Amino acid sequence: MRKRFAFLIFASEYSLLTVLLTMNFFKLVKYRRSIRKYDDQQIPREELEKILEAGSFAPNAGGGQRSMLVAVHNREEVERLGKLNVAMLRRDNLIGGHVSAEQPSIIDDPTIKSGFYGAPTVVVVFAQSRFLYSIPDAFCCAENMVLAATELGISSCIVARGEETFATEYGRQKMAEWGVPENYEARCFVLLGYCCGEYPQEKPRKEKRMLIVE
Ligand SMILES: Cc1cc2nc3c(=O)[nH]c(=O)nc-3n(C[C@H](O)[C@H](O)[C@H](O)COP(=O)(O)O)c2cc1C
Repeated sequence: MRKRFAFLIFASEYSLLTVLLTMNFFKLVKYRRSIRKYDDQQIPREELEKILEAGSFAPNAGGGQRSMLVAVHNREEVERLGKLNVAMLRRDNLIGGHVSAEQPSIIDDPTIKSGFYGAPTVVVVFAQSRFLYSIPDAFCCAENMVLAATELGISSCIVARGEETFATEYGRQKMAEWGVPENYEARCFVLLGYCCGEYPQEKPRKEKRMLIVE
């Protein structure tokens, strides 16, 4: 877990300034990892609100601000959705039968009960079903949220199978309950919580993925 240092400075007779030493953006980008094991502690609602706000400020096609973010800040509900999510995983569609050969994950364990790894909070990113850029729009929101979470010392993981999870009867029922329009689909999830165990190391980047043409 990232260390945060707070210094309390008495600046004048009427103000108390709290100065947080925050992480440099480029270090933060490298520090963020997908976390697949969470401890029991729920994240504070105020932090969740900040993360959602960051998501809402993501770049979006045509400035349409179409994506909708539904944060489930209730462990039991997250667990129910996580079970549905993993039930929708078609393992036979995975290359080699696993999610990632380079980064073995507990998702590759066929006995796993929830696709949300015990995270106490999940943000469901919904976007219009028949809009060309709805998937990139949703993932831009997700990226802003995972970076914002990292800044706040909260761990995260982007998870797929939103469409399948909410195509279920339970999923449609939840969408109606939350007021998500019927022409919307869940595009992805952002898990939020606190990392349980050791925080994963920075992974080396593959070569020849970047080119600058002058
Ligand atoms: C489009 C997309 C879908 C993903 N789906 C899942 C998923 O369903 N389950 C999961 O555990 N991780 C998922 N991830 C997380 C990736 O596995 C992870 O970002 C990748 O292994 C690199 O690791 P890092 O995020 O720690 O750098 C997804 C990431 C993206 C961008």
